[in-house]
Amino acid sequence: MSLLEVEDLTISYKTTKGKFLAVKHLSFDIKKGEIISVIGESGSGKTTMAKALVRAIKPPANIDSGKVLLNGNNLLEISQNKFVHDFLWVKVSYVPQSSQNSLNPTQKIIEHFIDTGTSHGLRDKKEIEDRAVKLLQLVRLPKSILQSYPHQLSGGMKQRVLIALSLLFEPELIIMDEPVTALDIATQRHILNIIKELNEKNRTSIIFITHEINLAIYLATKLLVMYGGELMEFGDREKIEKNPLHPYTISLLSSVPKLFGDLSKIKPVTEGKINSKGCPFFYRCPNAMSICENNEPETYTIEGDKVRCFLYGANKA
Ligand SMILES: Nc1ncnc2c1ncn2[C@@H]1O[C@H](COP(=O)(O)OP(=O)(O)OP(=O)(O)O)[C@@H](O)[C@H]1O
Ligand SMILES: [Mg+2]
Repeated sequence: MSLLEVEDLTISYKTTKGKFLAVKHLSFDIKKGEIISVIGESGSGKTTMAKALVRAIKPPANIDSGKVLLNGNNLLEISQNKFVHDFLWVKVSYVPQSSQNSLNPTQKIIEHFIDTGTSHGLRDKKEIEDRAVKLLQLVRLPKSILQSYPHQLSGGMKQRVLIALSLLFEPELIIMDEPVTALDIATQRHILNIIKELNEKNRTSIIFITHEINLAIYLATKLLVMYGGELMEFGDREKIEKNPLHPYTISLLSSVPKLFGDLSKIKPVTEGKINSKGCPFFYRCPNAMSICENNEPETYTIEGDKVRCFLYGANKA
C-alpha cells in the first residue's frame, strides 16, 4: 500500500492574463521507505506540487481538482486545524525552497524548536532542547546557534536548521524542496548521506526536489520527471537511468556531464515554449508526431514505469 497517493492533481494561478495551469492532472504515489527525486527544469511545477502536499497553496494559486491521500486521509479535505495538529511535522514535514526565509526573524532558533514541539504535544522544554541539540549535531551545526536569531546565520545554516526542524518528530514523509541548493559541496554530500541514513534506519519516505540531476540520481529509489506541470515519466531510478523512455527524460539525462561519460554526447536542454494544447514538450521534442500537438498523451505503463508519451501508445500518427 502507498503511504502517499496523489491523484489527478491540477493547480492553477490566477494571473492578469487569465488562468495558468502550473500542475496538470498529476498522479503518483510514494510507498514507505521510498525516496522519490522530482526533477524538471525551472517552472515545471515542482514547488507548486510540493506546496499542495502540505496545504500550503495560497491565492493567487488554487487547487482546481485532485486528491492527496496520506495513509488514506485526503489532506485537501480535512480541516486546517486537524491538518496542523495531527499531520504537519508529525506525519509529514516540509522543507520549503528558499527555506531560509521561512524562519521567524524575531525568534531565536531554540524558540522555533520549542514552538513546533509544544504545539504538537511535547511539554518538556528541556526534552525539546535535547532533541534540538542532537538534530543540530546531525546537520553539523553547533548547539550555540540555538541562541541565535535567523539573521545571525548564513543561508546554508538556516537551511540546515529547517532540515533539523523537519526531523523533530521523525515524520513518515519528508518533502524537501531544493534542500541543499545553498550549501557547499561537502555539506551537500553530508546532508544527502543524512537523508539516506534516515531513510535506511527509519524507513522514512522522502520526496526530494532538485534541478541537479546527479544529486537526484544519487539519492533516489524512484524518479518523477516533470515538464510544463505534467508528469513525463515516473518509475524506478535504476531503470530510468539505464533506459529513459520519455524524450524529455532522455534529453535531461544526456545534458548531465557524467564523470566518465562521453562529453561529446552531451546535449544542452534548449529553450523552447510549452505547448498548452497537447504534449507540453511538443515544441522541443525530437520525436514529435502530428498527434502530439493538439492531443494530451495518456499515461502508459511500460514494465511498471509510467510514461506520458504517444511514442508508447497504440495511436501513433
Ligand atoms: N505567484 C505566481 N503567480 C503566477 N504564476 C506563478 C506563481 N508562482 C509560480 N508561478 C508559475 O507556475 C509555474 C510553476 O512554478 P514552480 O515554482 O512550481 O516551478 P518549479 O519547478 O518549482 O521551478 P524552480 O525549479 O525554479 O523552483 C511557473 O511557470 C511559474 O511561473
Ligand atoms: Mg521550485
